[in-house]
Amino acid sequence: MPGLTIIGSGRHLPGDPVTNHDLARVMDTSDEWIRPRSGIAQRHFARPGEGVSQLALPAARRAIESAGLVPEDIDYIVFGTMTPDFILPGSGGLLGAGLGIGGVPALDIRQQCAFFPFALQIADSLLVAGVAETVLLVGANAHAGFMPWDWDALNEGRASDEEAFAFATQHRATAVLFGDGAGAVVCRRHPRASEGYGMLGSLTKTDGDRHDHFFVPAGGFTRYRYWEVPVDERIPSMRGRELFKCAVQRLPAVVRELAERTEVSLDDVDWFLAHQANDRINAAVVQSLGVDPAKVPSNIERYGNTSDATIPILVDELRRDGTLQPGQLLCFLGLGAGLNWGAAFLRL
Ligand code: ACO
Repeated sequence: MPGLTIIGSGRHLPGDPVTNHDLARVMDTSDEWIRPRSGIAQRHFARPGEGVSQLALPAARRAIESAGLVPEDIDYIVFGTMTPDFILPGSGGLLGAGLGIGGVPALDIRQQCAFFPFALQIADSLLVAGVAETVLLVGANAHAGFMPWDWDALNEGRASDEEAFAFATQHRATAVLFGDGAGAVVCRRHPRASEGYGMLGSLTKTDGDRHDHFFVPAGGFTRYRYWEVPVDERIPSMRGRELFKCAVQRLPAVVRELAERTEVSLDDVDWFLAHQANDRINAAVVQSLGVDPAKVPSNIERYGNTSDATIPILVDELRRDGTLQPGQLLCFLGLGAGLNWGAAFLRL
């Protein structure tokens, strides 16, 4: 075990926040519905033309700077998004170009809200294999592109017309949950890895039988011609209740299994850094694991679900406000579309 640790972090949230009250002008929803069911009060959105590689760039620069490094020190990029700039090629290469480090390998992974445990596992393996010494992990999403409402009405502070309102309302259960942003961390081997610091273990899982719990029917290459699809099929389809149930069962199970394998006691964990899909999911996970809710920080109120970006954004907030301290034991956990889910233990 090479004992990967996090030596730098950064985040970027685009534009001004859009509140639940703003959304109520463009579809049939309300703060009273959204906040108690999810914990979300506001979220940010990328502007038209602003792809995930652009959102990722300031987050990555801040992460590299906070590690005391320069972009040329990065020798591998792992990029996570469910809203890539293009269907192909991946966005990691665009980020590398933006950082001025063309030639550095950039891997795009498609684990959505489970990005961070998967990404840590990959980075750790790259260190073990001697492929890389300094790995940049970046999660970014620009969900704005699939939001179903009338953007002009939203931005101009007015109500949308009846037809646009009705169309957006059909997709309200999904649309209110997501927000845009980017989070980045820089990873290297912990200097005291041989003494039990750094990554202690990770466990990731995928269940393709449940790919229909959250997916975009259109855009894939299963049909001739792939661009001839109804608009509705380009908007993510979500089975919210089923996802909720999967998350509250599988997240505690994967954490327990990893704790057993690594012989880590959950009582010793200082912080559980969980994906933020819904505050109620995390409350149920906390209850099932029997851990102190004060050890499970939440920022969903301000950002909504930023998918791949969520955990690195949270890490950056907690590093910068001094919550995360050297020597602390962290448990990362997340579940997302795929289904993909996983956990990782890391001693800072
Ligand atoms: N505003 C107002 N009313 C709404 C809204 C809305 N935004 N959305 C749905 N409703 C209505 C529904 O139409 C329904 O009305 P009805 O009873 O008249 O039919 C009612 O509210 C209840 O809807 P439910 O879907 O049953 O609401 P629920 O309490 O289950 O909460 C929610 C829905 C918040 C989506 C919840 O199921 C959840 O959080 N699920 C998990 C989602 C998740 O984890 N997503 C991550 C995606 S995975 C990834 O990798 C990206």
